[in-house]
Amino acid sequence: MTCARIGCPLLIGLGEGENFIASDVSAVLASTRRVVYLDEGDVAELTRDGIRVFDRAGVPVEREVHVSDVSLASLELGPYQHFMQKEIHEQPRALADTIEVIVNQGVTPALFGENAEQVFADIDSVQIIACGTSYYAGSVARYWMESIAKIPCNVEIASEYRYRDVVANPKSLIVTISQSGETLDTMEALKRAKELGLANTLAICNVQESAIPRASKLVFYTRAGAEIGVASTKAFTTQLAALFVLTLALAKQRGLLSEEQEHAHLESLRQLPGSVQHALNLEPQIKLWAERFAPKQHSLFLGRGIHYPIALEGALKLKEISYIHAEAYPAGELKHGPLALVDAEMPVVVIAPNDSLLEKVKSNMQEVRARGGELYVFADLDSHFAESEGVHVIRTPRHAGVLSPVVHAIPVQLLAYNTAVMRGTDVDKPRNLAKSVTVE
Ligand code: G6P
Repeated sequence: MTCARIGCPLLIGLGEGENFIASDVSAVLASTRRVVYLDEGDVAELTRDGIRVFDRAGVPVEREVHVSDVSLASLELGPYQHFMQKEIHEQPRALADTIEVIVNQGVTPALFGENAEQVFADIDSVQIIACGTSYYAGSVARYWMESIAKIPCNVEIASEYRYRDVVANPKSLIVTISQSGETLDTMEALKRAKELGLANTLAICNVQESAIPRASKLVFYTRAGAEIGVASTKAFTTQLAALFVLTLALAKQRGLLSEEQEHAHLESLRQLPGSVQHALNLEPQIKLWAERFAPKQHSLFLGRGIHYPIALEGALKLKEISYIHAEAYPAGELKHGPLALVDAEMPVVVIAPNDSLLEKVKSNMQEVRARGGELYVFADLDSHFAESEGVHVIRTPRHAGVLSPVVHAIPVQLLAYNTAVMRGTDVDKPRNLAKSVTVE
């Protein structure tokens, strides 16, 4: 297999003279000719006979070739039915690979680049910018940043940030999160931030040397391996791991992380792949829930605090691949609108691990039950929920502390995946969606 990077952000590979492999693998595999728009107005034409690159005037040009480190194994299905299923089950490995360097080196700004120490010393706030699932990773990180590093943190959808009149704070660290490193809105939002004089930029990305990290001062690469299913799974959980480490690095720099605390957080990170594996083992129980979800038209996801973005991500996964209408709400907002939707036909998924908001979540659940709504509760070992009529409970076998959102991402992914399989949708290539959105 030859993999090439042609002075451009897109990985393009040629497998055994047969198929083209690119960051948008599924689309390329399905076509015999594909045109890909590259940096600087270049265009690549991919056919089964080869790759030709043209400049903006249409003149054929030679570009530097880089060999990709994407492994062929990550592009093969193996024993799995879908790439999404494979990628869900790869998460313990992806997380272990992503945190390896951290557990070896300890928490240091150097993990984010040579100048990170200086940049981190220069900032007083964090502005996260991303799209889709990456935005939800940023939404979790906001809770960590403010509670552990005590640094003000704002999270914004890239397509909003880029067109808004932003009051720029030059002491803000701009953090872009992008699995592909190519999402146009995120790239344009980064450009806009730089135009506004925001020079401290950090990219969290899964694709080496893609456009967004190349345009950023600092970078942290997640090591999830190639993600092919359109619905992001292992990229999401590894982004969360990266953002947690960023939080620890900022806390340490600000004198807010004692040696004992650092040790305890690193120990939690070490245990994370194991906790995720335990959550994956819940799949047989989740399949039974999926059977009940498959005939539904609508669903509601609830969470509070740091688990609210996991409710959002669960709803996004379900709507993306099963086409069931799914909305997520912070459980405390239930009474301000969505409660009107609740009846016996509306399954309500609740992310309810044992945290400081558990009692509040329980009272929100009673509000649902009182309207005849059926509850599907993802809890953990310490939540002490009992199954009862209309209340179904699946417990993750360990309490993961501050890393609980990472572990609770797994059951919502499995619920969406298994529901979509039962509905017979095209799980890896859901209608109307693309893996890498390089157009507006
Ligand atoms: C598309 C994908 C999503 C992804 C989003 C942002 O919508 O289908 O899975 O979360 O783009 O992509 P990025 O590569 O910037 O993380």
